[in-house]
Amino acid sequence: MEIQKNISLKPYNTFGIDLPAREFLEIESVASLQNVLKLENRPKLFVLSGGSNMLLTAPVEALVLYINIQGKTILEDDGKTAIVQAMAGENWHELVMWSLSMGLGGLENLALIPGKCGTTPIQNIGAYGVELKDVFYACEALEMSTGRLRRFTAEDCNFGYRDSFFKREGKGAYIITSIALRLTRTNHKVSTSYGAIQSELSQRGITEPTPLDVAQAVIAIRQSKLPDPKVLGNSGSFFKNPVIRTEQYTALKKKFPELPGYPQNEGMTKVPAGWLIEKCGFKGYRKGDAGVHEKQALVLVNYGRASGKELLDLAHSIQDKVRSTYGIDLIPEVNII
Ligand code: EPU
Repeated sequence: MEIQKNISLKPYNTFGIDLPAREFLEIESVASLQNVLKLENRPKLFVLSGGSNMLLTAPVEALVLYINIQGKTILEDDGKTAIVQAMAGENWHELVMWSLSMGLGGLENLALIPGKCGTTPIQNIGAYGVELKDVFYACEALEMSTGRLRRFTAEDCNFGYRDSFFKREGKGAYIITSIALRLTRTNHKVSTSYGAIQSELSQRGITEPTPLDVAQAVIAIRQSKLPDPKVLGNSGSFFKNPVIRTEQYTALKKKFPELPGYPQNEGMTKVPAGWLIEKCGFKGYRKGDAGVHEKQALVLVNYGRASGKELLDLAHSIQDKVRSTYGIDLIPEVNII
């Protein structure tokens, strides 16, 4: 076990914030993770995965466990569906492309989402009309207090919009070590109704898209409006899309007739945060090196040397303006550390 001291976390977070970890340990197997959890007088732990959904605002005064457990395999395959297992440290997009190359469908709409497989259930990643929960079969996680391995079904995970058991009751109590997904081998159900997918496919002259066609369309759409974290630091959508009561939506709509809204269950309506932020004048805004992406107002960006605090200040200004204009609270999707 080689614990490094005072390591910069800049290469480990997609915002590219340069703050240190007091101690840092790369974890490459479930057994070594269990050994750490068994340590007597174990220091405070901080679990780090792809670093694609966090904003560092202070040094991490803890032992950072960088979860990099590799391995992916097909656990079961009956010719109609297959169960694919990926260890927590596998890169998500590589899993998507690997499953497609094996002829399996289900992950195509989730192509190019940054991050590693282990954290995908925590916030139930989603894009272009599909969420992880739609393909989720099970995951395994180590209970931090005991080091015991526990299996969670989809029901145990209690998934919601960018939400799960691991963000609520189970917060900070488990480290996910692997995920298993149920994918289709035949009768793929491609989902092309969201946003620009259909027009992207038509432009390519595709009328009966395969899962790979859909993935390629999603990749093109994402590349056209979401910044590549390797080029411009960011953490994807900074806020969740607010879900408000439909009465509040209807009242707002009278005042702001163009306000988009997507009906949800139980008298609720989802409002695109990107629209609210854009209308408040922040799209393309920049102060120092902290900014709002010019093509997608829901994405905050680091043009180089922005500190976590500067990005957080910008997030607060956006929240204040949206609250005073629309009476809507924007909740960060990104974890603020
Ligand atoms: N919009 C604007 N201005 C903007 C951005 C968006 O007016 O600058 C409005 C438009 O009305 C647009 C609508 O917002 O039709 C939706 O925009 P978009 O399709 O870009 O998606 P989003 O709601 O902003 C969500 C996810 C993304 C995911 C996309 C595509 C959340 C918080 N974000 O964004 O996920 O890629 O849908 O499915 O739900 C992420 O979570 O990090 C992420 C990138």
